[in-house]
Amino acid sequence: MDIAVATRPVRPDDRTLFRRLWPRLSPDTVYRRFHAPLRGLPPEAVDRLVTVDHDLREAVVGLVGGEVVGVARYDRSPADPGTAEFAIVVEDAWQGVGLGRQLLVELIDLAARRGVRTLTATVQRDNDRVLSLIRRLLPGSAFTPDADVFTVASPLAPATAPTHS
Ligand SMILES: CC(C)(COP(=O)(O)OP(=O)(O)OC[C@H]1O[C@@H](n2cnc3c(N)ncnc32)[C@H](O)[C@@H]1OP(=O)(O)O)[C@@H](O)C(=O)NCCC(=O)NCCS
Repeated sequence: MDIAVATRPVRPDDRTLFRRLWPRLSPDTVYRRFHAPLRGLPPEAVDRLVTVDHDLREAVVGLVGGEVVGVARYDRSPADPGTAEFAIVVEDAWQGVGLGRQLLVELIDLAARRGVRTLTATVQRDNDRVLSLIRRLLPGSAFTPDADVFTVASPLAPATAPTHS
């Protein structure tokens, strides 16, 4: 059953909600998102995650009961703003009900409207959920194996109506 969760762009005052999200992520979810067995994030890393310019860097959060339960983000390359790396995480209790798909759809739309033409990502080769999402939402994606990960490169179609938000 898919649900619709309230979403909005991240704000600097989401710092506290991000800190509260961390302990609700299992070690497996943390590893798949960050590709390292992190036990926590230093304050400056949290600051960077919640501070974006909504152009070169963007993040969309999903909220339930006032708590952030998922985040999808992109970082455009300053040298090549037509290319952006994306990453996504949904807290374990909310996985499998369509939130990852909802957040990624919204992020792809924002990226396309701002002129991103290629989305890239690094994903574990056995990460069936995100691979399924990428195949469905980003047709034409190339998957290059490298040790236990795929480097993904996905072409984006130009958006029909550019936005300046
Ligand atoms: C990857 C992730 C963001 C997906 O979010 P989600 O809310 O769980 O995903 P959804 O409910 O939208 O489902 C996504 C797809 O996975 C499929 N899926 C759901 N449960 C599944 C399961 N137990 N096993 C395999 N696939 C499953 C869904 O059918 C859907 O596929 P479809 O698009 O072909 O229908 C989430 O699982 C997560 O945070 N994982 C850890 C971090 C991570 O892997 N990030 C990606 C690398 S940056």
